[in-house]
Amino acid sequence: MALRLGDIAPDFEQDSTAGRIRFHEWLGSSWGVLFSHPADFTPVCTTELGYTAKLGQEFARRNVKVLALSVDGVESHKTWVKDIDETQNTRVEFPILADADRKVSTQYDMIHPNANATLTVRSVFVIDPAKKVRLTITYPASTGRNFDEILRVIDSLQLTDGYSVATPVNWKPGEDVIIVPSLQDPEVIRQKFPKGYRAVKPYLRYTPQPDR
Ligand code: BEZ
Repeated sequence: MALRLGDIAPDFEQDSTAGRIRFHEWLGSSWGVLFSHPADFTPVCTTELGYTAKLGQEFARRNVKVLALSVDGVESHKTWVKDIDETQNTRVEFPILADADRKVSTQYDMIHPNANATLTVRSVFVIDPAKKVRLTITYPASTGRNFDEILRVIDSLQLTDGYSVATPVNWKPGEDVIIVPSLQDPEVIRQKFPKGYRAVKPYLRYTPQPDR
């Protein structure tokens, strides 16, 4: 069955460009982004992995480890990484899983047979330090993903985990957020949001981002 939000991300042991990875142990207390791509030496994937490598410091700043996957082997991945580094002007430092036996792809339902019988689609899983799945995205092979959006969702998750807020449409860090509707006690609201709030409707209350 497909993984759902709130499920524990399945643990696994698999080969990668950085050696054997035991997933939960490798994650430790970090957040994780596990993402699949259809195949090595393909143009869209080359741009995706290159851009993700360029975001390395952004992921590290958020305590996020990144792990890519395709069903190609380790030697293929290593040769392709040289191409990515060269053509995208970066250094891929995160590991790429070599899921030739499709063990992880199957656990994470990354092969969608009606799209492609053997190759993984563009899946993304964001996993929190409790190993819970917090975001799933599936893109078709022909459409490169937006990794800025993945960072944006991680920012939202990390913020909303710590405060009684949610983030509105197209929110970007620094913009106002929404007080969750379940919070109604005026005294508690005053304590939690000393910068105040603006009520457009009783259920739509904006407040400055509380951790800034
Ligand atoms: C690509 O990554 O460029 C790609 C992979 C599979 C199908 C189409 C494009």
